Amino acid sequence: MLGETKVSFSGVQPSGNLTIGNYLGAIRNFSLYSEAYKCFYCVVDSHAITVRQVPAELRRRTYETLALYIACGLDPQKNTLYVQSHVHEHTELAWILNCFTMFGELSRMTQFKDKSTKHADNINAGLFTYPVLMASDILLYQTDVVPIGIDQKQHVELCRNIADRFNQIYPGTFTMPEPIIAKDGKKIMSLAEPTKKMSKSDENANAVVYILDDKDTIIRKFKRAVTDSDTCVRFAEGKDGINNLMSIYSCFTQKTYEEIEREFEGRGYGDFKLAVGEACAAALEPIQKEYAKLLADKAYLEQVMAKGAEEASYVARRTLGKVKKKLGFVIPSSHT
Ligand code: TYM
Repeated sequence: MLGETKVSFSGVQPSGNLTIGNYLGAIRNFSLYSEAYKCFYCVVDSHAITVRQVPAELRRRTYETLALYIACGLDPQKNTLYVQSHVHEHTELAWILNCFTMFGELSRMTQFKDKSTKHADNINAGLFTYPVLMASDILLYQTDVVPIGIDQKQHVELCRNIADRFNQIYPGTFTMPEPIIAKDGKKIMSLAEPTKKMSKSDENANAVVYILDDKDTIIRKFKRAVTDSDTCVRFAEGKDGINNLMSIYSCFTQKTYEEIEREFEGRGYGDFKLAVGEACAAALEPIQKEYAKLLADKAYLEQVMAKGAEEASYVARRTLGKVKKKLGFVIPSSHT
């Protein structure tokens, strides 16, 4: 909490083309807080380098992710939108928090286990301490709520443990953040393997619907989505493919599962898949139009990121100063 105002913080890695999972599980929920909260939404480029990136692509995707934030409805006048590496306090606090995080805690992170299996040739220390940088992102802004998809819940829980440990020793330092996980869209699954999360790093582009896919591509991908040998559109255990499509359709149309079951009673999967594709394409179209305009204006995006970094730095500096004082660091007289 910053004074009387509650704070929302979240971030997205510019490590690939963003998917409808990123949109439905996270970005679309960011704007729910724009009016009543002080909101910080960050493009987390420092997190992205835990996996090797091509420099030109990382740079391009950083602009693209920022443009998508705005195109998805985040007004830069109401939200602080910025790039993580522009505010050096993130990595500085991360070092301090490393000293308050246990090896065992980090070893239990499922994302570390998954990523170290996937990138067995590059199990670097950054991949291991990734959640500490994430804790630092969140705690720097005295965050109350962290809107995320369910895959990030374990990391926010670790952040709470770190905050609690620090506060036990140095009372009153950090606000305790709450993960906010939307009921719908918290885990959008792969279209090819519906027991697996839809991921921007999936090598099979047909498994993933990107926010920027055009209408024909979206419809084609949904048509090919893996379902089951049943023909009835209903939400049930074991029908992972259909459950996933129902959840996507529900997110884009606000229809309940009962309404969807009624709508497609007596109709086959083909009709249903087409309807999901059309609803998805219709919802993404205005975002894509706005995105194209924004991306063509690099100077504007640079202005947004500069303003965002300035606003974020102001708050980050204050928290880091407080932390250093509590720890017993000598604060140079030029900083007081
Ligand atoms: P990232 O970049 O993997 O994903 C960004 C957000 O999208 C959500 N998400 C999904 N939600 C539903 N279904 C899916 N298939 C799906 N795929 C991704 C993620 O849960 C996330 O909310 N570590 C974070 C970035 C981060 C962060 C933070 C988040 C860095 N610092 C501080 C919150 C607070 C990440 O890798 O997200």
